[in-house]
Amino acid sequence: MTDTGNPAAHVPPPGCPAHAEGAVPLGGLAYQQTPSQLYRSLRREHGPVAPVLLDGGIPAWLVLGYSEVGYVTAHDELFARDSRRWNQWPNIPEDWPLLPFVGYQPSVLFTEGEEHQRRAGVISEALEGVDQFELARDCQVIADELIAAFSGSGRTELMAAYVHTLPARAVVQICGMPLGGADTQQLVDDLRISLDAAEGDDPVAAYGRVGARLAQLVKEKRERPGADVTSRMIQHPAGLTDEEIVQDLISVIAAAQQPTANWICNTLRLLLTDERFAINVSGGRLSVGEALNEVLWLDTPTQNFIGRWAVRDTQLGGRQIRAGDCLVLGLAAANTDPQIWPDAHVGAENAAHLSFSNGEHRCPYPAPLLADVMARTAVETLLERLPDLVLAVDPGELEWRPSVWMRGLTALPVEFTPVVQ
Ligand code: HEM
Repeated sequence: MTDTGNPAAHVPPPGCPAHAEGAVPLGGLAYQQTPSQLYRSLRREHGPVAPVLLDGGIPAWLVLGYSEVGYVTAHDELFARDSRRWNQWPNIPEDWPLLPFVGYQPSVLFTEGEEHQRRAGVISEALEGVDQFELARDCQVIADELIAAFSGSGRTELMAAYVHTLPARAVVQICGMPLGGADTQQLVDDLRISLDAAEGDDPVAAYGRVGARLAQLVKEKRERPGADVTSRMIQHPAGLTDEEIVQDLISVIAAAQQPTANWICNTLRLLLTDERFAINVSGGRLSVGEALNEVLWLDTPTQNFIGRWAVRDTQLGGRQIRAGDCLVLGLAAANTDPQIWPDAHVGAENAAHLSFSNGEHRCPYPAPLLADVMARTAVETLLERLPDLVLAVDPGELEWRPSVWMRGLTALPVEFTPVVQ
């Protein structure tokens, strides 16, 4: 950028998060291991809305307070989803790592107002057609297949062998991909690569293949509809185009896979490391259902979500927010906000957490219920089939993924008595 020599050009706009005192880089080891302590100290220093720096020093606000996250998500007219209003676009490089999550796409995620109601309404109604008992049975079949592949060996790494694959297979199946087909497995593999690329993977090519396979699925279902989410989206009176359906199917599948997998992972970790949940469920201690709910309060899968963009200048948590500022929803911080847990004990049996967000763009009904069916069946089936399952490493050796967005483990090595088939 050229220096105009104009002194005004060097004066930051008042309230800009980049120039707010002590803006904190949103990243680093503290998020990997103990984010709850970090959120507590951010809250102490900055209050419920903290100035943060995203990758590459890009400024944003992290909304840490339970009532502030509730307020932001309930006021679309002030804090909206279309990221094209971001005032930082001139500073974003082409290869910015958060572009896949923040760059505008013509999907339900970035639509607003009536258009969002139309698109989200179609998704909700299509998901409502999923029979939860059938879904549980299908998840059990998938679980049994995956378990059979490692149960004879007496040990495995569950993230790769079980946790990531189960919800991916379940969700592509409810969308109408044929059960057990080679191209269904290819789609599951491509999803993994595009959402969570490992070294040597090509996420862009994988994402292209996901789009192409789903476009083909929409074509097939137009010709031969079935009892599946894709067919119900096609048949919905809102009359979505094929392109809109493909975009929204990608959103549904991607939004389902990672959070549900991490919900399963964090629940298994809790069950395997916390003696309140004696792993031998028959021991009659706290139940799998209680563990699933506790994870949503304490180790929620989507710990931070990007985000909302301010429609106009406004105030939030004592901060001056400028039109076009980006707000990150601090869902994990909000769930553990001392304002709602004054006696420092976090967690309750109720579902008043913000893990599925809130307001118009919240995880659409009945997706949280379907996720619960998948996660519960995954955990219960594993514990039933391998009742003496234990961690193969010391609990302190388990490593959280280096992500400020998703909370889950890099690996979950376990041991059990081999099952002879
Ligand atoms: C069957 C599994 C799931 C499906 C089909 C699903 C689907 C979706 C969809 C379509 C959206 C976009 C909503 C919109 O922009 O209008 C969404 C948003 C979201 N989902 Fe889910 N989801 C699933 C599981 C989960 C799980 C397990 C969690 C976390 C515990 C979760 C947390 C969220 C959050 C935090 C958002 C962002 C909401 C916002 O912008 O405020 N979802 N989900």
